[in-house]
Amino acid sequence: MKNLAKTLGFSVALILLFASVTYVLPQMKGEAPVDKAVDVGELTMDSFIALGENLYNGKGTCTLCHNQLGRAPDLLTFDVGKVSLERISDSQYQGKAKDSESYLRESMLQPSAYVVKGFGKKGSNDTESPMPAVDQAPIQLSEVEISAIVAYLQKKDGNAVTVALPKAAPAAGKKDGVAETKPPQAQGPEEVIAKFGCAACHSILKTQSAIGPSLNDVGKRLKIDQIRASIIDPKAEIAKGFPPIMPDFPTMTVSELEMVVKFLAQPTTAQP
Ligand code: HEC
Ligand code: HEC
Repeated sequence: MKNLAKTLGFSVALILLFASVTYVLPQMKGEAPVDKAVDVGELTMDSFIALGENLYNGKGTCTLCHNQLGRAPDLLTFDVGKVSLERISDSQYQGKAKDSESYLRESMLQPSAYVVKGFGKKGSNDTESPMPAVDQAPIQLSEVEISAIVAYLQKKDGNAVTVALPKAAPAAGKKDGVAETKPPQAQGPEEVIAKFGCAACHSILKTQSAIGPSLNDVGKRLKIDQIRASIIDPKAEIAKGFPPIMPDFPTMTVSELEMVVKFLAQPTTAQP
């Protein structure tokens, strides 16, 4: 999972961008194009925060150290927004942060800018942090993922979330909520998976991601109709133990949907 983090980070960024763009639903079920814009695919702050929580507990590996065992401050037990401001005004503070958002971001990117007393590397007299920079190997979170975690850390104590949602993809020109340029139709299931960034969140083909359930053996767990329903309306049924962050794909054509559904419905789609 770690060696894939970089590409996945990019894919997550991409899919979040896709998810935040409003499209119409012209091709689903072969219906005539509707003229009303359907904004179900829009990325909300709530799903962005849910993504942050998922990354904090999963791919970010934060809870390996930030837990009740005392290896690092347990961020879930205190108001990180309030504490951030205390850190910035501490005489030991070496960083450039001005508010809680920039402090949290800096803590993840340059952990040694401020080292919480008693938590420094042995012998460094609390001048060097044992925490790895989270944008570097092995954690390698993308900018969007780091922002999602900051949003989650602000939200968890009821503080104002100052992080901006990732912006919509500039390439997707819109006019009155209608996409002007349609991306080309995918030719096979692998292209559908690539086009809609499924691998950003799911283990599928040769990539690994634990944000959503593995799709390599989804054909063993779900009937073909359930797979189709999970993609058409992800919110209808949420797989246990996963956050409700799977986006809708309003630009997916019926034939793209059927290609990927048929592919996933095979007992195992895992590659050798
Ligand atoms: C290998 C252990 C380790 C991992 C993994 C780790 N941290 Fe840390 N972190 C620490 C330690 C130790 C400190 C305290 C020393 C310091 O201030 O740098 C710390 C400090 C922090 C602080 C500042 C806390 C304060 O009270 O000022 C924040 C915020 C933070 N980490 C966030 C994160 C996030 C978010 C992740 C996951 C993306 C993460 N950390 C992953 C060990 C870790
Ligand atoms: C932003 C992350 C994300 C993306 C992108 C994404 N999914 Fe998901 N998906 C999830 C999560 C999280 C779940 C589990 C929660 C739920 O059921 O909604 C899920 C559930 C599913 C399920 C049900 C699996 C089960 O075991 O119940 C299927 C099937 C599925 N996704 C297919 C796809 C396909 C196909 C694509 C690309 C067209 C895709 N997903 C893109 C996050 C994502």
